[in-house]
Amino acid sequence: MRFKIGIVGAGNVGGPTGQRIAERNYADIVLLDMPQAEGLAKGKALDIEESGPVLGYETKLTGGADHSLLKDCDLVVVTAGSPRKPGMSRDDLVQTNQGVMNEWGGAIKQHAPNAVVIVVTNPLDAMAQAMFHATGFPRERVVGMAGVLDSARFRTFIAQELNVSVQDVTAFVLGGHGDQMVPLSRYSTVAGIPLPELLPRDKIAGLEQRTAQGGAEIVNLLKAGSAFYAPSASVLTMVDSILLDQKRILPCSVYLTGEYGQQDVFLGVPVKLGEGGVEQIIQIELSSQEEQSLAKSADAVRELLQVMRGVPSATPS
Ligand code: 2OP
Repeated sequence: MRFKIGIVGAGNVGGPTGQRIAERNYADIVLLDMPQAEGLAKGKALDIEESGPVLGYETKLTGGADHSLLKDCDLVVVTAGSPRKPGMSRDDLVQTNQGVMNEWGGAIKQHAPNAVVIVVTNPLDAMAQAMFHATGFPRERVVGMAGVLDSARFRTFIAQELNVSVQDVTAFVLGGHGDQMVPLSRYSTVAGIPLPELLPRDKIAGLEQRTAQGGAEIVNLLKAGSAFYAPSASVLTMVDSILLDQKRILPCSVYLTGEYGQQDVFLGVPVKLGEGGVEQIIQIELSSQEEQSLAKSADAVRELLQVMRGVPSATPS
């Protein structure tokens, strides 16, 4: 049996996400966008399908703007929304993109009521929360993609700094997908060796800082648009883990109901992703300083929630 995956938003992230998933050859894909961009969705869907004979996959892709194309999707990736422009903070996007979450959240609820939803749209944690409210799905089935990307960036910078294979580097980044994210060096390792044993504190601080600014670094270089290669690769990791029931432990943005001392807010924490979506939230011991940083990051997400309409404000920690 082949899965059916919906990708909402045929832009810079949606297109490569479709290509990466198509190459997996285990799902058919619908690529959707708003009516003004229907041709974009149809064109990219056809273009990706036409790569199949060359690359050896059978994936069928359908592009369009009709919400009913989402019918019976097992999983929907939501990338639609206004992208970040140079000088613009993720937070500036909040109200515009909340409208986008409401529209597509309603469509997913109607046409794919059993889907797991992966939200990619920024500001990430707030948009995952908007999608959670728009669909009314249980928290296991709405998850934000940020931690996998942020950890990938941290891993890249650690590997570059130490001149080692990135394959031996693991890294954990917690918190919101914003400037207040919390890279956890203590839990980041090179071949099992904790990072603080390999690099001085100031070097690590520099890498953490660069990770927190990782999205902006790409935006400033590209000038038009934001990152899409690493984000789409990160989405693919989550899609694989869910649809293939791999039960990987990945940092993802999920709705917290008391875990890590946080209530009613989406925040990046380690979770187990399997066929049920978020199957477990893993709680790890944090130092008081790390706990404070996480609380600060949660407050930054809560500030965005205050800006959003119709989403109950999260309870302050
Ligand atoms: C990033 O961090 C745009 O949020 C995306 O690159």
